[in-house]
Amino acid sequence: MKPRILVAFASVSGNTAETARLCVQAMQHAGAEVIGPKNVRGGNASLLCGFHGVLLGAPTWGEGAHHPDFVPFDESMLDQLVPGALLAGTRAAAFGGCDRAYRHFGRAIELLEDRLLQCGAQIVQRGLKIELAHNQHSRAATSQWALDCLARITGEKSLQPYRPAMTTADVDQVMGISPQERSRRDNAGLMP
Ligand SMILES: Cc1cc2nc3c(=O)[nH]c(=O)nc-3n(C[C@H](O)[C@H](O)[C@H](O)COP(=O)(O)O)c2cc1C
Repeated sequence: MKPRILVAFASVSGNTAETARLCVQAMQHAGAEVIGPKNVRGGNASLLCGFHGVLLGAPTWGEGAHHPDFVPFDESMLDQLVPGALLAGTRAAAFGGCDRAYRHFGRAIELLEDRLLQCGAQIVQRGLKIELAHNQHSRAATSQWALDCLARITGEKSLQPYRPAMTTADVDQVMGISPQERSRRDNAGLMP
């Protein structure tokens, strides 16, 4: 049986939207039936129901919070999916944009995971953080992350602990930034 997977996201400046697109492409290429990328802005959380797997993305905003545009969808999950644990039996993972200049680095991913768990879903692997904007390295890493997720949804791969969440060093690996390049940037006072 082909797994049916939804990729849903919110995005303000396009980073999380690109991650969602890359995930859809990678999983479709691998033969999965993938719905999306679906922008959840203004949507009802019931759209998450009825899939073997759900990949949900949102950027971190404010001080480690959701962007105001995503809050109504999060509240819809709380109101409509949590009471009956309507995502029981669904395997899920989270992703989103972030920036190390902020104290709560990519915290929205943990908020997404907590909410998905409350809805009854099972988190299959560590959430993917993409800092500010994709590059060639992070595009390839994202495709691999989505393929790993697919393998965990189908049971071909064992589940990965999703905490601790990705650190800035983990995200450097995703973005293809070596420790030497990171210290060069830090010493030069460059932004990420
Ligand atoms: C006002 C503002 C607040 C932000 N707050 C955080 C934050 O608390 N933590 C974090 O990791 N990134 C934060 N960011 C960075 C965004 O998450 C980052 O730019 C991300 O790539 C945006 O994703 P998007 O393009 O999908 O909207 C903030 C950005 C802005 C403009």
